Amino acid sequence: MNAARGVNDQGPRFPEDFVWGAATAAYQVEGSPDADGRGPSIWDTFAHTPGRITNGDTGDVAADHYRLFRDDVALMADLGLSAYRFSVSWPRIQPGGKGPANPAGLDHYERLVDELLARGITPMLTLYHWDLPQELEDSGGWGARDTAVRFAEYAELVGARLGDRVPLWTTLNEPWCAAFLGYASGEHAPGRTDPALALRAAHHLMLAHGLATQALRAVLPPSGQVSVTLNLAAVLPAATSSAATNAVRRIDGLANRLFLDPLFVGHYPVDVQQDTARLTDWSFVRPEDLDVISTPIDLLGINYYSPTLVDVGPAIEGPSPWPACENVRFVQPPNARTTAMGWAIDAQGLRNVVHRVHEQYHPLPLMITENGAAFEDELGVDGVRDDERIAYLRDHLEVVHEAITAGIDLRGYFVWSLLDNFEWAYGYAKRFGIVHVDYATQARVWKDSAHWYRDVIRRNGLE
Ligand code: FCB
Repeated sequence: MNAARGVNDQGPRFPEDFVWGAATAAYQVEGSPDADGRGPSIWDTFAHTPGRITNGDTGDVAADHYRLFRDDVALMADLGLSAYRFSVSWPRIQPGGKGPANPAGLDHYERLVDELLARGITPMLTLYHWDLPQELEDSGGWGARDTAVRFAEYAELVGARLGDRVPLWTTLNEPWCAAFLGYASGEHAPGRTDPALALRAAHHLMLAHGLATQALRAVLPPSGQVSVTLNLAAVLPAATSSAATNAVRRIDGLANRLFLDPLFVGHYPVDVQQDTARLTDWSFVRPEDLDVISTPIDLLGINYYSPTLVDVGPAIEGPSPWPACENVRFVQPPNARTTAMGWAIDAQGLRNVVHRVHEQYHPLPLMITENGAAFEDELGVDGVRDDERIAYLRDHLEVVHEAITAGIDLRGYFVWSLLDNFEWAYGYAKRFGIVHVDYATQARVWKDSAHWYRDVIRRNGLE
């Protein structure tokens, strides 16, 4: 026993400066859609469109974090978090996506950042977690090259105001989701179902990342670190056939290499361009764009939830998020336990993506910026027994520890999520928080996983 920390001191220990975090995103937790001059985002429009979200839920109130952020930061301090990953709502800063900053919007995030710093919690700020100002969507959204230019201006405004106290900056969260769920399958805002447009959107998102990285460099102090967060997929074949191997190549191309290659190698994967040639000639990519997109960054954020198993087979019904992959079938791993999302649980997938990035791309510092699970939590008189979530987090943290032991520069881990929140198309039906939120009263109740995570942080290791 470590008497000082009061917890069992055996088991894997993490490096002394390992970052223990939790993550949220603006539209999922904030509520207060009209406060302080905020404009509408594509998620306001989408959520208010009948039929888009389970139970007709919207982010209008969410976890009321815009108003309750001080209580929530106190909660983070009680958990012992070393960092909080949150996102800034672009339409709070520029209600229409362009022009001068709305001072009241910046003031809010300054208060949040100052509150975090006062509690010894490092702010990790994401500039884009999917809430594009609606006005920009109306003029083409991510299908328009101009949106990338606008994004860099927004990045500069936020960087100039908060650069002196936010050490970690993330341009985009999961550009794959923003492009392909937003513009190909239409499951996410803005709900478009045009695969060629989605490929364009993916490029403009990456261009936005590169331009914003340059804009941030110009305003941040030299110590300011810039990153991007990708949802990398551990893609494996469900059969030993060459057709299954080809399906892996295609999905890996769209999920991983479409983002990693331009960032770190300076070009788009040729096979992906060939596979999708019947949809687009890729003329939206200008040669100089690749230099912008591959502007060096300091850190790569990885979000990982579940493995991806593929084979050949009949098309996904309805609009697919995978352009030109009509004959790819997604397979549930046999005997896999699943979460309330129906996602298979396999921590080896996290091992796969971390090692892959480390071995095949520039060995740059990594952070797991999201990992976690939704389960059918039940709030009882004494809290929420969520042993499955604890097991999930423990398994994945073991993989993180192994990767560090193997020499990979993995600097931190952020649980998704601090709080139950608006889970996009699923609304409030899916709970990912380690802290339960009663949406009627906004009461926060620690689930067992929150107590467990606090102990992990205290001992800086697993039991
Ligand atoms: C990720 C998103 C995050 C959350 C989790 C469950 O794709 O970045 O906002 O919805 O999934």
